[in-house]
Order: sequence, then C-alpha cells, then structure tokens
Amino acid sequence: MSSTASLDGSYEDSLANEKSDLVSTQQYKDQSLQWIDKYETDMMENSNYTEPRHVVKAFVELGLDRQSRILDILAGSGVVAEMLRPCGYTNIDAIDASKEMLALANKKQLYKKFYVSLLGGQHKAPVHDETYDAIIASGTFAPGHLNSDAFGDLIRIAKPGAIITWSMRSDYGSSAPKFANFDAEVEDLVKNGVWRHHVPRRTIEPYLLGSDGYIYTMKKI
Ligand SMILES: C[S@@+](CC[C@H](N)C(=O)[O-])C[C@H]1O[C@@H](n2cnc3c(N)ncnc32)[C@H](O)[C@@H]1O
Repeated sequence: MSSTASLDGSYEDSLANEKSDLVSTQQYKDQSLQWIDKYETDMMENSNYTEPRHVVKAFVELGLDRQSRILDILAGSGVVAEMLRPCGYTNIDAIDASKEMLALANKKQLYKKFYVSLLGGQHKAPVHDETYDAIIASGTFAPGHLNSDAFGDLIRIAKPGAIITWSMRSDYGSSAPKFANFDAEVEDLVKNGVWRHHVPRRTIEPYLLGSDGYIYTMKKI
C-alpha cells in the first residue's frame, strides 16, 4: 500500500495525485468531510482549542532562523502557519491526509508546498530524507490521529539538528491504549542517540477540555 502524493508539489499537483489509498479511504473521508466546514468555528471559537497557540509560542521562543524550512504535520486548515507567519516564519510546508482541510489552508496562501498523505503506521511521508529544519505539530498526537509509531518517519525527514516539536494532552498516557508507552518510546529514542530533549518537556495547565498538556521539543541528533 502506498501513500503517494506530490514530492515537490503545489496544492494543485497534490490534488492531481489522488492515488493515495488512504486519502481515498471512505471512512477517513467521511470523518473529515463532516468536520471540515465547521472545523475552525468549532475548534478555535467554541472549544477553547489553545493547542496551536501553545506550540507556536514554544516554537518561536526557540529563536530559530526565520528562513528555517518548516513542515507543519497534520496541518489541517493552516492554523499553525497563520500564527507562525506573523512571527517571521514563512518557509512552511503542510502535510495532511485531508485534501479538503488543505484546501482551506491553500485559500489563505500560508504554505509553500502541500503533501496530501497519511502519516503514521506503515505510511511513509512523500518527503525526501533530511529535508526539514523543523517539524511542528498541533492537534496531532491524539487517539485516532498520530501516535509514537510516526516518530521514525518524522526523524527520517528531519535534518540532523532539526527541531521536532508538538503539544498533546497529558492524560493520553493513562486514557488511550496506543499512548500507554508514548513517553517510554520518546525516551528510548533518547537512549539510542536518535534525538534529545532540546527543551525539557513542559507542562501546560490547563490545556484542553479539562486536561493539562505537554510540550515536547526534541532535537534530532
Ligand atoms: C485536529 S486537526 C489539527 C489541525 C491543525 N494542526 C490545528 O491544530 O488546527 C487534525 C488534522 O489531522 C489530519 N489527520 C488525522 N490523522 C492523520 C494522519 N494519520 N495522517 C495525516 N493526517 C491526519 C486531519 O485530516 C486533520 O486535518
């Protein structure tokens, strides 16, 4: 099973390349389509969805070069890029399995490239090895989205020394079976010399829907 999409693609190229099995998986599409029209209103205005704000703030505090090539994973409608761009970060690409969500982002002209592709599990991002200076993720590591089985591929597409940063609810470790070993897997990669904590894991209180959150900022070695 391949999860192909454009390697150097514009949004239109990505749309033209709809062979990705997963993008056309009916279950995925149905779920996405129900959500898309209302996404920004529901998430940003009605549910106190502060995740992008936290992770973007943490990212900007790192003071990385403004030309850094950044990949926003599970970029959705582009909320992260909307917050990054006023801080001077404009060299941003987006990856998401939903071309409909990316279409919203495309309208806002936030990203240079789009990849329509699933991540995680056996799916390999259609991105060359060691491409990005930074990978940022908001609303990403969550049940039904991405879990630690995506780490290997994210590390593959990050340059040596690249930052990989994300925020997530702190309660998934106890409430979501696929997250039971999440922190152990982060730490195994530390022990194996694959990445290190560039900034110690930080707790955000409160974070989302009654749960605290964590910000992870890893540096690929
Ligand atoms: C909660 S939204 C987050 C969007 C954006 N990062 C934000 O914070 O507003 C989750 C997005 O992840 C995408 N998505 C979920 N699971 C995915 C996967 N395994 N691979 C690629 N995209 C996925 C969905 O299409 C959706 O756009």
